[in-house]
Amino acid sequence: MKLLDPILWVAAAGSALLASASETVDQSTLALENAITAASNSSLLWGPYRPGLYFGVRPRIPKSLMTGLMWANVDDYAHFKDLRHSAEQGDDVRGFGWVEYDARSGGRQVINDVGMSVKIETEFVKVEGGDKGGNWGVRIRGTPIEGAPEDVRTTLIFYTGLEGQGQLHLDSDLETDGIEGTVLIGGRTPDLGDFKVEITDGPKTNVHPVINHDAAAEKDIQKTQYVGANLMEDTLWRAKDLILQQISAAVQSASQKYGENDMPPPAQIFTLPNTGVVSGNFQAVQKTFEGSFEFDVLYTSRSAPQAMTSGGLGERIEEIKTAFRARFDEVFPLKAPFDKEEYVSFARELFSSLLGGVGYFHGTSLVDRTHHDEDSENFWESSLSTPRSPQEEGPTTLFTATPSRCFFPRGFYWDEGFHLLPIGLWDNDLSLEIVKSWFGLVDEDGWVGREQILGSEARSRVPADFVVQETRYANPPTLMLAVVAFIERLDQQANVGSEPSFNFQDGNGIGLSGGGIENEMLSSAHIEHPTLATTYLNDLYPILKRHYDWFRRTQAGDIKAWDREAFSMKEGYRWRGRTPDHCLTSGLDDYPRARPPHTGELHVDLLSWMGLMTKTLRVVAEKVGEEDDVAELKRVEEAIIRNIDDLHWNEEEQAYCDATIDEYEESVHVCHKGYISLFPILLGLLSPESPHLGAVLDLMRDPEELWSPWGLRSLSKKDEYYGQGENYWRGPIWIPIQYLALSSLYKNYINTPGPNQEKAREIYTELRQNVVENVFNEWKRTGIAWEQYDRETGEGSRAKGFTGWTSMVVMIMAETYK
Ligand SMILES: *[C@@H]1O[C@H](CO)[C@@H](O)[C@H](O)[C@H]1NC(C)=O
Repeated sequence: MKLLDPILWVAAAGSALLASASETVDQSTLALENAITAASNSSLLWGPYRPGLYFGVRPRIPKSLMTGLMWANVDDYAHFKDLRHSAEQGDDVRGFGWVEYDARSGGRQVINDVGMSVKIETEFVKVEGGDKGGNWGVRIRGTPIEGAPEDVRTTLIFYTGLEGQGQLHLDSDLETDGIEGTVLIGGRTPDLGDFKVEITDGPKTNVHPVINHDAAAEKDIQKTQYVGANLMEDTLWRAKDLILQQISAAVQSASQKYGENDMPPPAQIFTLPNTGVVSGNFQAVQKTFEGSFEFDVLYTSRSAPQAMTSGGLGERIEEIKTAFRARFDEVFPLKAPFDKEEYVSFARELFSSLLGGVGYFHGTSLVDRTHHDEDSENFWESSLSTPRSPQEEGPTTLFTATPSRCFFPRGFYWDEGFHLLPIGLWDNDLSLEIVKSWFGLVDEDGWVGREQILGSEARSRVPADFVVQETRYANPPTLMLAVVAFIERLDQQANVGSEPSFNFQDGNGIGLSGGGIENEMLSSAHIEHPTLATTYLNDLYPILKRHYDWFRRTQAGDIKAWDREAFSMKEGYRWRGRTPDHCLTSGLDDYPRARPPHTGELHVDLLSWMGLMTKTLRVVAEKVGEEDDVAELKRVEEAIIRNIDDLHWNEEEQAYCDATIDEYEESVHVCHKGYISLFPILLGLLSPESPHLGAVLDLMRDPEELWSPWGLRSLSKKDEYYGQGENYWRGPIWIPIQYLALSSLYKNYINTPGPNQEKAREIYTELRQNVVENVFNEWKRTGIAWEQYDRETGEGSRAKGFTGWTSMVVMIMAETYK
């Protein structure tokens, strides 16, 4: 086959043929790229991209069809007010999340709703076909939770709503007592074309409560109840309020009619009115069951060759589960001692929940672009007292994973690079799509907001103090980790030198099987097709560079003014946005720093991040052939590595420390031992030969400092701030830092002979065991992956459902460090 390789052939054919032949190459390459891009885009069109809801499907189109699910227990009158819709930290839910999930085909979610006495499962599938993104369906299942009566009554509401242009209409016969049989909702939008949504009755085994009350003659809950409405722009996200309003009106009129003593039972009374605008942009249906139940929601695009059916859905979900499990074992082969079934299902759930937490957001954001001076004395006092002057900007869109669906259901720059490591292993091209989405938000200066709160729905869940994003503030540039991981995959592929698994020569078309390019191929197209990678990196490079320059410019520290001695007079950095107790911009919020803040501060974690950022830009520059930049970036890298020692190593403390200026105007170190002291190791900037390596490893390993049986503490037990104040980053154990430590030990230190090799290996082995065991045990105990783990007991704490970066334990179990 090599002889037919068009590029080799061109090279051999001499200059006469070159022009026309290379045109052919370009054209076929371009056609292939376009075909892949379109197929990939289409396979990612639909998803449960409203991760703040327990279940809500929408397309990756700014204003379009939005769907959502609600449910409540109706055995009594009390539960309905807690109607489930958005996932909330306070809900009495013993864990929820996807147990199998693939972004291009679908998966299964389980919600253990203790409060409502029901376990809800959502099995979501996508079926390719046509030119409008194909079909999808979801099977919604309920079973009484363990210990609950078998005839527990549950009511569920499923809605479709339209934002923007288009129409929706109820196509079933609406009677005053409900809708008989499958409910049919039709619609069309400019992007989706014509479509229909069917809500089925489900199997005959479903039981609806039998109501012995006169009210049963008005509404028949053997049927499906309904409401339609025309909602104003930007109110659709408040669907639950609308439903509660409708139903409380129904309750009021029933209580007037029947009086307190003859109220209809809750299953009868908490029902939609069977009225409203049948062609409104909001169409909701309700079903009430007794005991276990299941029904389907089937979305069919007019452009698809076949309709979505319940039979098709059932088959597809089985295929997806089987394929997911097989692929999971390939991508994350768990290594001893975690190669056991109970760890495998734990790992699958954490990873699936991370992937199922990817969302698509659209809306305006609040941005403060005024220049706040942080270069004069006592700047933090004035910047605290300066009123913010936010402007509404956008709208913009973001495709992103989310840290916690019930607590932080939106994009976080600090978390995202971590999210993308496991995601990139599973679906490289999805991770690239997300990276691209983030870089699409980088403004002309090179800034991007660290928390992406797009639109009113997102804003409604954020305390006012955190909504406004300030253009002078940074956050750890973790997206670099994802970019480096991509480049490593590219290099690995180049070394293996395998043939692309599909190309134009294969059969008729592009490795087509069963009507579309296989999802698995789409997930690695940018690795298997160097031209796609080149195009991607060429587009990325200028933005990455602008972003990098913004960091260097706006977060620069002052070395010269304070007569500091260092290899480079430039490479020192200071996080802006400090207050006496906080450095929120560092991502390590309340980790102790210099007190009070000072313009002469230098932060060792930021210098380390700049080291990673420089390296990342350099490896991308190498790929895109920016030779001059490569040379310059190499110099900067070297300067950063030298300056980490020159500016931040404290001989007396035997630790890396921040620096500040004391009352005698002298540069001094501020040594609060903890995570920041580890950053040169965490980001792989400390050579295995470094004379400081041993001391940093000792700091990790000392139970009186960072070492605990559950992982590395964020702050040394000996530090005066240990466990004090908010105690957020002052002791508690955070998983992404464990990941960085383990990853770096594994890649850089345990295989390099030297005085510290044994120590590094011992730390690696024990730390890995400790971290995984604890997250696993807490998950078994509580059903939940937590934001952080207690420094003294290992107990999970703070935000629940933290299947964002806590899910990185999967990579730790599989030792797939990137
Ligand atoms: C991806 O699909 C969406 C929805 O159909 C469309 O608006 C967008 O332009 C497509 N993007 C690409 C790169 O094809």
